[in-house]
Parts: sequence; C-alpha cells; structure tokens
Amino acid sequence: MDAWIVSLLPAAPVRILDAGCGDGSLAAQLSSLGHDVTAIDLDPGPAHAAGVPARRADMAAYEDDPFDVIVMSLSLHHMHPLGAALDRAAALLAPGGRLVVDEFAWDWADGAAAAWFYDAGVLLGRFDEPVKDPLARWREAHADCTSARDMLAAIDERFAVTGVRRVPYLHRYLEGPARLREIEEVRHVPTGFRLTAVTRVTDGT
Ligand SMILES: C[S@@+](CC[C@H](N)C(=O)[O-])C[C@H]1O[C@@H](n2cnc3c(N)ncnc32)[C@H](O)[C@@H]1O
Repeated sequence: MDAWIVSLLPAAPVRILDAGCGDGSLAAQLSSLGHDVTAIDLDPGPAHAAGVPARRADMAAYEDDPFDVIVMSLSLHHMHPLGAALDRAAALLAPGGRLVVDEFAWDWADGAAAAWFYDAGVLLGRFDEPVKDPLARWREAHADCTSARDMLAAIDERFAVTGVRRVPYLHRYLEGPARLREIEEVRHVPTGFRLTAVTRVTDGT
C-alpha cells in the first residue's frame, strides 16, 4: 500500500483516476479501500493479467466524468504530449479535486548518483558490467523521458501546487533491499518528487 498516496485521499468512496496504471497494483489497492477507481493505460495488458479491469486509453485524449482525485504514479514522464495529458487532467478534475503526482526526476541526477546507480545495479545483477561514463549512459537511457523541470513547469501552468517534496528514487528503480534507500538519502541528490495540486480557481473576469 502506498502510504503517501493513501494519506492524501478523502474518506472513501471518491472517484479516482489512476492515469498510466501499469500493472494495476495501485488501482487494486485503492479499490480495496472502497474507492471508485478507473485505471487507464496505453497498454492495459499487465493490469488485465493481474485481474485489474483497466481501460486502454491515452491520457492525452481521455474523456470521462469528473474525478475527485487523479493519480499519476511514475507515468507522467512517459506521457506525450505532456501539455495535452495535463490539459486533460485539469479538465477531468472536479472542483476541489486533487492531482497527485509521484515522479522520477532523472534530470536531477549528477555524476555521483548515476555512478552509484549503475554500481549498485551491477551488484544486484541488473546490469552486466560496470559503466565507464555513468552520467552519459544515464542521460542517453532517459532521453525519451520528460524532465522534472519540464513536468513541474507544465503542472504549474495548469494547477495550483499545494505541496512538492524532493525524494530519493534510485532505490525504487533498482528494486533493491530497503537499506539502499537510506544510503541513497544520505549520499545522493534526490531523483524523484512527490507533488499535490488542485485546480486553479478563476473568478471568471
Ligand atoms: C513506469 S510505468 C508506471 C506504472 C504504474 N503507475 C506504477 O506506478 O508502477 C508508466 C506507465 O504509463 C503508461 N503510459 C505512458 N503514456 C501514457 C499515456 N499517454 N496514457 C496512458 N498511459 C500511459 C505506460 O504504458 C506505462 O504502463
């Protein structure tokens, strides 16, 4: 259960959109709490395989009734065009609704963080051999992903941000033991962020 996301939710039941649901595990958790969850993904196959009734849909063109909460967990950096996906999120959020974004900030990694990531990855068997130029490899590997700088600017254009916190992320990427998080937090720059936002209130003038 993702304690951070759960802590942000109003009392059940509320309507939640899990945009870019992947294997559907978060959607299943939120449903188990009594919420009315719609899970969408460009490829709902992994969610279906896990028994989660996700819809095949592109967030950048998604139409539906309003949601009380829209969750984007590690999906926004993959959504293209970024602005269209966030425009739809703004349109789909009910007045007073909340956007919850848990994201990867690959562009915040420096050479030390990239070197640690690949070295830990070799030890954990994720990579075959040590990487000679970790930062170059890191940047090349994430060239198709939207940067945190661009995500934060695009969110800020469309929503009123109510909270944003930089958090360690590499240990999640590596799926390693829990102690990795502690080491990452002490030694390295954060490479993730957790953000909440609400719809902008306009006075119509
Ligand atoms: C890294 S996975 C994250 C999955 C899950 N939310 C999680 O936290 O583990 C990103 C997911 O976003 C989906 N995705 C990417 N672009 C999308 C779009 N435009 N609309 C809907 N889903 C999208 C991908 O298919 C993928 O399943």
